[in-house]
Amino acid sequence: MKILVVGGGGREHALVWKIAQSPLVQQIYCAPGNPGIAGLARCVPVAAEDIDGLLALARREQIDLTVVGPEMPLTLGLADAFARAGLAVFGPSAAAAAIEGSKKLAKDLMQQYGIPTARYVTFTDYAAARRYIVEQNRPCVVKADGLAAGKGVIVAHTVEQALEALDLIMRDRAFGRAGDVVVVEELLVGQEASVLAFTDGRTVIPMLPAQDHKQVFDGDQGPNTGGMGAYAPAPLVDRALLQQVQQTILEPMVRALAAEGRPYRGVLYAGLMLTPEGPKVLEFNARFGDPEAQPVLALLQSDLVEIMLAVVQGRLAGQTVEWHDGAAVCVVLASRGYPGSYAKGIPISGLDAVPPEVLVFHAGTALQDGQLVTAGGRVLGVTARGKNIPAAIELAYRGVEQISFAGMHYRRDIGRKAL
Ligand code: AMP
Ligand code: GLY
Repeated sequence: MKILVVGGGGREHALVWKIAQSPLVQQIYCAPGNPGIAGLARCVPVAAEDIDGLLALARREQIDLTVVGPEMPLTLGLADAFARAGLAVFGPSAAAAAIEGSKKLAKDLMQQYGIPTARYVTFTDYAAARRYIVEQNRPCVVKADGLAAGKGVIVAHTVEQALEALDLIMRDRAFGRAGDVVVVEELLVGQEASVLAFTDGRTVIPMLPAQDHKQVFDGDQGPNTGGMGAYAPAPLVDRALLQQVQQTILEPMVRALAAEGRPYRGVLYAGLMLTPEGPKVLEFNARFGDPEAQPVLALLQSDLVEIMLAVVQGRLAGQTVEWHDGAAVCVVLASRGYPGSYAKGIPISGLDAVPPEVLVFHAGTALQDGQLVTAGGRVLGVTARGKNIPAAIELAYRGVEQISFAGMHYRRDIGRKAL
């Protein structure tokens, strides 16, 4: 088979790495890919959002299966365009991916179908939202409805912070049209976990639960990022809790989407808060998490391509998904300044000294005159498997110690919450 992976970050490198192990695969293409991916796939300079360009590529190279990493092409209708052209895609239609593209839609569906989530109110009118926040006079979370590269969610501990967030989204239009609608929701307290699942629209098979580390600094301090590291399996989601998440959240959501004429195929990602009243949904995503994909895929024993074909062909019920024992940890190495602005083009050294059993997934890298340099905020995802979480942590940080670039920073406590 010929497989095309869309995207060019750490998640896509992990996807390509896992897909490359499948005996079903002859050739992998990646658009646009990155220098790490280039060791395993033919990288083609087509942007992940260029649906027509991707369609032309898939036709020209006679791609058998296209796997979509990021959310943007899904919400833009990549899967719909490919389906119209008779091409197989792993990833939901635009109508189904809208559960990530519109927080209001996701919340309304959860409310309508009784899926546990924070209480919320939505607004299109700035003055009404302002009045509500002042009247409520308690901590809340203010969210831009649309996609905002992970920055459109502001946790407000005071009314002042909530009003500032509202101004940023609705008055300054910091996220453009993503801020046409805002969701103001109850602040939930607890530990967070990510449960991703494969689904063909009927059967739901959860993956190993993972935990992300969103804040930039150790001890969950500082601003939110795309994710500074992750590990799996997260012990706080034990077998019983995972089953509860499957039965009260994932399966009802998949049924709800089908009932609403938005049949869902692909990876459904539930970002959860584990509250004293049980798990509640913070957000749904329409794709693998990044960096959660790195440790989760490192632990996947089954052939990912077989699973993806079962999803695409609607026969997931007959598919087994098996996992390696032990645990995996991914530590993200970031550029100075990230998650704010940062320089690019800084030389990276030491990759050749990383222990061979450590996986270094490229997230934001480029080649400049043969030299590997930084090209993003999140640069590398150093990932290791171990017989348990401490062993995986130890090995991942042994890899990290070998790598350096000017301004490199990373969290030193990835996985510690699990201990
Ligand atoms: P989201 O993109 O909706 O997952 O939000 C990003 C982050 O904001 C989450 O990972 C949480 O840390 C936080 N967050 C979102 N909604 C809530 C909530 N209702 N209560 C507490 N924290 C939240
Ligand atoms: N790591 C969070 C996300 O992928 O949305």
